[in-house]
Formats: sequence, C-alpha cells, structure tokens
Amino acid sequence: MKIRKAVFPVAGLGTRVLPATKAMPKEMLTIVDKPLIQYVVDEAKEAGIEHFIFVTGRNKGVIEDHFDRMFELDATLESRGKKAEMEILQRDQPEAGAMSFTRQQAPLGLGHAVWCARDIVGNEPFAVLLPDELVLHTPGCLKQMIEAAGKLGDKSNLIAVEEVPADRTHQYGICGVGKRQGNIFEIDGMVEKPPKGTAPSNLSITGRYILQPEIFQILQRHERGAGGEIQLTDAMIGLAKSQSFYGVEFEGERHDCGSKAGFLRANIAFGMAREDLRDGLREEMKRHLSN
Ligand code: UTP
Repeated sequence: MKIRKAVFPVAGLGTRVLPATKAMPKEMLTIVDKPLIQYVVDEAKEAGIEHFIFVTGRNKGVIEDHFDRMFELDATLESRGKKAEMEILQRDQPEAGAMSFTRQQAPLGLGHAVWCARDIVGNEPFAVLLPDELVLHTPGCLKQMIEAAGKLGDKSNLIAVEEVPADRTHQYGICGVGKRQGNIFEIDGMVEKPPKGTAPSNLSITGRYILQPEIFQILQRHERGAGGEIQLTDAMIGLAKSQSFYGVEFEGERHDCGSKAGFLRANIAFGMAREDLRDGLREEMKRHLSN
C-alpha cells in the first residue's frame, strides 16, 4: 500500500491553551525552536509523504506563510553571511506544488476537518497527523506505521495506539484487541471515552492514522457525535464494519502539546534530546528543583 498524501487538520480553536491561541494558531506553538506543524510535516517527509494537505480555518494564514519563502529574510541572512540559518530555512521548505490548503469554515470536529480534504486526497489511502501530538523517536511514528502497513492487506486502516493508565481510559478513544502479530493487532471494536470500568483495553487511539478513502463516504453523512462534533472515531467505527482496522503500538514517547502541562513536558523532553541544549537545561532544572 503506497501512502503519498497526508492530511494535517489545523482548523481547531485550541481552547485548552488559551490565551496563547487567541490570535496565534495552536499549531504554531513552539517546541524548543520549531512550531508544532513543522515537526509533523518533517515526520511525514521522513515517512515518504509527497503531498501535504492542510485543513485550515480563520486566523491560520500564518501556517501557510511558515511554509512559504520569506524573500526579505533570505536577503538579510545572505547579506549577513548567515549560512547555517539559511540552510535551516531551505531544509524546512517543501517543494513547490507539494502542499495544498483547504478551509474548514467552522470547527465542526476532527471528522469534518478530514472530510474537507476529500477532493484533494481523491481515491487513495492517506495519512492523517494531528499536529498537537508529537512523538519523540527516530524513526518517527508515521514511518513505523507505514512499515506496518506494508505487512497488511491493501484495504487496511491503521491507527497508532498507546497504553494509558487503566484509571484514565475514560478520557480517551479506546480499542478492543483482537489477533496480535508483534506490535500490530486487529482492532476488535473502538469506543470513544468509555465510562469508567468498561474499557475493552487500556490502548488509546492517538493522532496518527492511515485511512482508506471510503471513510469519506461515511463522513459525508455529517453525523454528530460526542460534544455535538463530527467525530473521526465514529466514522472509523462505521468503516470497521466493512474494512479491517489495525492498531500499531509504536516506539517513542507521545506528547499532547495541546494541553498546557503536555506542552511544557514536550519542551523539556525535546530540549533534553538536543545535544546543544541538554547540559544548560539540566543545570537550570536542577537550580529550580533546589529552590
Ligand atoms: P483538538 O480537539 O486537539 O483541537 O483537535 P482543538 O479543538 O483545537 O483543541 P481544544 O480542545 O479546543 O483545545 C486535534 C486537531 O484537529 C484539529 C485541531 O486544529 C487539532 O490540530 N481540528 C479539530 C480541526 O482542524 N477542526 C476541528 O473542527 C477540530
């Protein structure tokens, strides 16, 4: 199964991290020195994705700008001989024509955001990456999933899953576990936020998916689910009636950067993973802990 296209839903309001997201998109929040959206685009590139589809909304224009050339900045860096900085900007720049932007005029839910990409995706399997979830690992989470997809049938759907503490399963979408093969298992049912004590496992659905285009036919119905939103999980439950779904337990630590505590933790984890910052950061944390 060849996955060429990835969808990045970036039209949400980011209310959990207000006021940071009042005038700035959540997806532009910075972990160390890169915006969230750059991390997930890099993850998709590493996995061999060729076309990057952004589902944007109001106040999200800066995301488009981030992937454009900044002629004034380029000229200034060049005139000042700042070669390393110029290389960083060039490295982050996707090829011309490799990006598409479409609008979700109202944040009606993740399922609706994915549906907005239907014409650009067309009739082929595709990846979905939620930019507020980062996985610290090489190879990245999507690359691990594409490797897993290579072992499965062409009409398979895959979801990255992660273990969560049993007493917190009610906060997540949870998968039932069927036949297992290493880190891949058949998903035997999915349930969004199961009441305490009823979860079929402690494996939660995370923000990386490989989906078949038939998901659009289900999303087309615009059925509202939890919170009155058009939920991707509900559409996946519908598609699971006719197609197989597999869970992939990926290697790496997942960070929910869409919450304040998760955002801070991610900055520490990604900062500590950087050779140029690790020692200074460790000293600074020691100083704070001793106070
Ligand atoms: P979240 O639920 O984490 O994002 O959706 P949110 O709604 O922006 O956050 P809170 O809960 O208000 O803080 C995951 C991803 O899906 C996108 C978001 O932009 C985010 O990247 N999304 C969500 C959409 O594109 N459209 C939607 O209607 C909802």
